[in-house]
Amino acid sequence: KIIILDFGSQYTQLIARRVRELNVYCEIHPFNNLPEFDETVKGVILSGSPYSVRQEDAPQIDFNSIQERFPLLGVCYGAQYIAQKSGGEVLPSEIREYGRANLQFVNAENELLAGVPVQSQVWMSHGDTIKEVPSNFEIIASTDKVRVAAYHVVGTRTYGIQFHPEVTHSTDGVVLLKNFVVGICGCAQEWTPDAFAETSVAALKAELGEDHVILALSGGVDSTVAAVLLHQAIGKNLHCIFVDHGLLRKGEFEQVLDSYKNMGLNIKGINAKELFFGRLAGISDPEQKRKIIGNSFIDVFDEAAKEIQKELPEGLEAKWLGQGTIYPDIIESVSVKGPSATIKSHHNVGGLPDFMKLKVVEPLKTLFKDEVRRVGKTLGVDPAILGRHPFPGPGLAIRILGDITEDRVRIVQEADDIFIRNLKEAGWYDKVWQAGTIFLPVRSVGVMGDERTYEHVVSLRAVGSLDGMTADWIHLPYDLLAKISNEIINHVKGINRVVYDISSKPPATIEWE
Ligand code: XMP
Repeated sequence: KIIILDFGSQYTQLIARRVRELNVYCEIHPFNNLPEFDETVKGVILSGSPYSVRQEDAPQIDFNSIQERFPLLGVCYGAQYIAQKSGGEVLPSEIREYGRANLQFVNAENELLAGVPVQSQVWMSHGDTIKEVPSNFEIIASTDKVRVAAYHVVGTRTYGIQFHPEVTHSTDGVVLLKNFVVGICGCAQEWTPDAFAETSVAALKAELGEDHVILALSGGVDSTVAAVLLHQAIGKNLHCIFVDHGLLRKGEFEQVLDSYKNMGLNIKGINAKELFFGRLAGISDPEQKRKIIGNSFIDVFDEAAKEIQKELPEGLEAKWLGQGTIYPDIIESVSVKGPSATIKSHHNVGGLPDFMKLKVVEPLKTLFKDEVRRVGKTLGVDPAILGRHPFPGPGLAIRILGDITEDRVRIVQEADDIFIRNLKEAGWYDKVWQAGTIFLPVRSVGVMGDERTYEHVVSLRAVGSLDGMTADWIHLPYDLLAKISNEIINHVKGINRVVYDISSKPPATIEWE
């Protein structure tokens, strides 16, 4: 594997994704919490950073011992850091070096740059520049503004690059990363979804033995793939719980429950609508809605888990809680908010209380979202589940602005069903990252036949995104929007007006609450 040491750059995760796209396994670790460097490690990458190496509180590591044992690649800050610590000079750039540039000089003889042509476009993003390198550093690439765009420390396997190979704007970035991880580090490109599934099932079998595991399914990609892996490892000893809070999309609970049963999962569907609606009655504050739903979910889950424990044979108890946590949830990234460079860990999934006293098993904790999908595909998970748009845990509760009533849930479900069906029929569903329908608790005047109407409004939302952090609204064809609007107004009682949300994130968010 490859170890990526993170100095807090916004691009660190992207480096990891590119390496994994080469079918090479890699892990991100914060610079001040080093992992064990055992014999499975084949090479190390130092990331970029929002810090300058000239700052007193800049992140520091002792890379000498790493450099002696492994091939080492410094990217941006990483490259400047190695250069400076080795006796070179790093100064503020006279001009801001940000954006596209082209390599004017490339030493294609160098193993790192094999196959990277002169004129290759690279992406720069830095405020400092390497002015002088020590005499044992060979400059292997330059742009017209950046003399030290890449270097090799002669006689070692240490390299530095000033530009960012991990962003797609660096057109030969992947070639360079492949030269490093495959050519220089000697990693085999064997980390495939198939191999992942096979080794995780074997590892889960060994870890869990005859133990029983309880897992909450949400109908989403992550929990489903986690369940299938666990199911392949321990079969009926995996007990799944699927809670209907009454705020899922139309017909979703029944459909998903069916497909889970078809996959052979040992699953308990629980209708808890009444409890959720009861507790949500009269609540219109979004954060309060989230809190109530989260707490109620725990209550229902806890009750169901106790039932499962009771049904197990005498003397047996479920010791494990299965979770669909994925890699971005657990990567410890370096907090760059304060000068003290503290470590912040993002264990934001879990939320279940300690009193459950179960050990946690998270089969997907090393995977990115797209990798989860690929693993799901090799495991034969229903493509309808794998290709689904993300859906928030609190469900339609945060797509109904204001109070939640059963009638408003019906309206949103029916309108959303029309919207999504039309997106699918017109071939737009897979081009959209997330789509949904929002109920607005305002009424407007309309006319139907000879009658004046005074009814509610729904807004349609369809966005493109990579990870939900930023998003842009999708330019759906006018004809399609017209068809959807007509169908909704003609068929959904209580709606006489449909609008389309044309806000991007930021400054708006994807959900309205
Ligand atoms: P926003 O609205 O913050 O949403 O732009 C970004 C992504 O997160 C989802 N989302 C949630 N998911 N619980 C969840 O599990 C929540 O409370 C929640 N709020 C937003 C949203 O659907 C989008 O994909």
